[in-house]
Amino acid sequence: MKINEVILKSGQKCTFQTPTLKYAQDLADYANRIRTESKFLLSCEQEPKVTLEREIAWIKSQNIKTKFIVMATIKGKVIGLADYSSSTKFRKRHICSIGISVLKEFWNLGIASHLMQILIDTATKTGFEIVDLTVNTNNKAGIHLYKKFGFEKTGTFYNDTKYEDGTYANTYYMQKYLKEIKGAKHAKQN
Ligand SMILES: CC(C)(COP(=O)(O)OP(=O)(O)OC[C@H]1O[C@@H](n2cnc3c(N)ncnc32)[C@H](O)[C@@H]1OP(=O)(O)O)[C@@H](O)C(=O)NCCC(=O)NCCS
Repeated sequence: MKINEVILKSGQKCTFQTPTLKYAQDLADYANRIRTESKFLLSCEQEPKVTLEREIAWIKSQNIKTKFIVMATIKGKVIGLADYSSSTKFRKRHICSIGISVLKEFWNLGIASHLMQILIDTATKTGFEIVDLTVNTNNKAGIHLYKKFGFEKTGTFYNDTKYEDGTYANTYYMQKYLKEIKGAKHAKQN
């Protein structure tokens, strides 16, 4: 389903839409490419390739309450992807967790910002109270993006990422409140 269409700084027309099954192969190709372009994603080349079958199941799993996916396409090709998912645990039902990525050749054109706005609008309408995410502490572009959208760092996981070359990285846990929670302790008070 098409959500909106924008003209990027580059002059290209970019469409934001939820994926249908006809995008399954393109999404598998995207997933296998993006993991070669950034060290800031959880998946890397050491893992098995993403298959068409996995993407079909992923697309079919869409449900606004538990799994929302939005992709950015240019001329019908997937160039950016974002999603939120919520835990199946009852006591975590007010939180959704997001992930976001854009192909390197399209960075700094505002695509992730558009994807993020769609995620936040949809999560708000769906009734979530908190959106959370994790980001490596050395991911400057990611942290800039998240702070721009009002996410606050609320914790740090130390050495929870180990790269292929044996080096380690730390990860921030960040939250954005979509709704005021009475008496809630926020990051700024920590
Ligand atoms: C992080 C990522 C999604 C951003 O996508 P994008 O489409 O380039 O993002 P946007 O163009 O909407 O915004 C990027 C912002 O970061 C800023 N930025 C870029 N590089 C930066 C840097 N090194 N330091 C600080 N800010 C930086 C840009 O100036 C821009 O700021 P603005 O919106 O205030 O103008 C993209 O870089 C990416 O896919 N990276 C690899 C995967 C990844 O890190 N995903 C997040 C995992 S938590």
